[in-house]
Amino acid sequence: MNKDVVCIGAGYIGGPTMAVIAKMNPDRKIMVVDINASRIAAWNSDDFELPIYEPELVDVVREVRGKNLFFSTDIRSAVKECDIVFVGVNTPTKMFGRGAGRASDLQYWEATAREIKEYADGDKIVVEKSTLPVRTAAAMEAILNDHAKHRFTVLSNPEFLAEGTAVKDLLSPDRVLIGGPQDEAGIAAIAEVVDIYAAWVPREKIMTTNVWSAELTKFAANAFLAQRVSSINAIAGLCEATGADVDEVARVMGADHRIGAKFLKAGPGFGGSCFKKDVLNLVYLCETFGLHTAAEYWTQVIRMNEHQQERIVSRLFKAMFNTLANKKVAMFGFAFKADTGDTRETPAGTVARLLNDEHVRLAITDPKAIPNAKRDLADIAGDGAGIVFEEDPYVAAEGADAVLLMTDWSLYPALDWRRIFDSMRKPALVFDTRNCLDGEELRRIGFKVLNIGKDICGAPTCR
Ligand code: UDX
Ligand code: ADP
Repeated sequence: MNKDVVCIGAGYIGGPTMAVIAKMNPDRKIMVVDINASRIAAWNSDDFELPIYEPELVDVVREVRGKNLFFSTDIRSAVKECDIVFVGVNTPTKMFGRGAGRASDLQYWEATAREIKEYADGDKIVVEKSTLPVRTAAAMEAILNDHAKHRFTVLSNPEFLAEGTAVKDLLSPDRVLIGGPQDEAGIAAIAEVVDIYAAWVPREKIMTTNVWSAELTKFAANAFLAQRVSSINAIAGLCEATGADVDEVARVMGADHRIGAKFLKAGPGFGGSCFKKDVLNLVYLCETFGLHTAAEYWTQVIRMNEHQQERIVSRLFKAMFNTLANKKVAMFGFAFKADTGDTRETPAGTVARLLNDEHVRLAITDPKAIPNAKRDLADIAGDGAGIVFEEDPYVAAEGADAVLLMTDWSLYPALDWRRIFDSMRKPALVFDTRNCLDGEELRRIGFKVLNIGKDICGAPTCR
């Protein structure tokens, strides 16, 4: 008989993953539980106003919610009922004590492990879904199995979905990774979890390893991706200085199949909940094992990313005649990338703070991220502060000296840029940090244009 599944943590990972598992396993009951009652209420809302925005997610939830997918705050009953317990609670970067600023804060994970142990009334397979430091599974296994009435087998099943394409990534993943102990119980537990995914993922794409390899692979994969973004951004600075065009360089480089075309888009730097956190974790791990040069190497990936945002502000400063005080900048996009409302570690947040330090009047617009932006900037965007939030990009740009495009939402290239130009103060500047607008057309309209990794206007101030 197929075993029922519970996921503890109804966030960006738990929610979409379980919705897709439920859709593809109609004969299994899938429960998603969380301590956050308002989050669960949103997952259960009549109008399907889900707590996270993901294209196509609402369709999947509509199809299965109440049939074999259930959201609840009753963690105790769900753990009792289900043999397979996924854990998708948050593991933010630790901000205190040992490893502060680098290591993962495991308090939510450990609290969850203790809950599972307390509520279980039989043997359980516990599956790490949150990104966790290498060897966490062993620590969890020690907590769970010490003087326990039941047997717990801990597996690692890292999630590789990207936000904005979560449902697509879940439905057709490049690979599914399941790591587990290489003993009899571990191999049997791995087979149980393989079965869940084999309902729709071709068997050859389901890869099994030992626990440590699975845990480390997640960090290594994200660190490699983050490093590609920092590498192309490092090249972008050089392109601006020399007159090369980073998009051309990336296109030709990417044609080499050993390099590949993906993740070579220069921009404002990487954001999102994973990249910085995972690289920092890798740095911490390297330091813990005395691999100091490797730790420094990965630290530079983050340093380069921060530098990219500092560079954006200094280029804007130069292009606006070395003074930004009291000038109005319309920030187009605040989410860390398009098609998500998520603003965790968004480059736009860093840039907004740097501009606020320069006393810029900032109007922030974004189709999905304004509620998060308001929360993130609450300490500097109170009443009477120089930051306003505006749904309508045309209104945001009215009277502005510059439009600073931070997120590549597809709606921005389709705007009426002549109308925007007419409503702005002159000279009107567009700084397109995603190189997604038609620069030629903007210049024809009369804008001064800045990009990342290409010297469009040719003037030294644009550098
Ligand atoms: C990432 C990983 O892709 C995913 O496998 C993992 O499970 C979670 O972390 P995500 O953070 O959702 O996913 O977004 P991703 O699409 O990877 O983009 C991360 C950041 O890099 C974004 O800020 C994006 O704008 C930036 N990026 C990406 C670039 O600047 N250039 C690129 O070429 C690609
Ligand atoms: P992720 O991006 O890793 O999915 P999120 O922050 O979006 O992270 O979601 C994690 C969820 O885990 C949150 O909704 C949080 O309330 C929940 N959570 C944290 N600790 C516990 C716990 N002990 N029991 C149940 N849920 C928890």
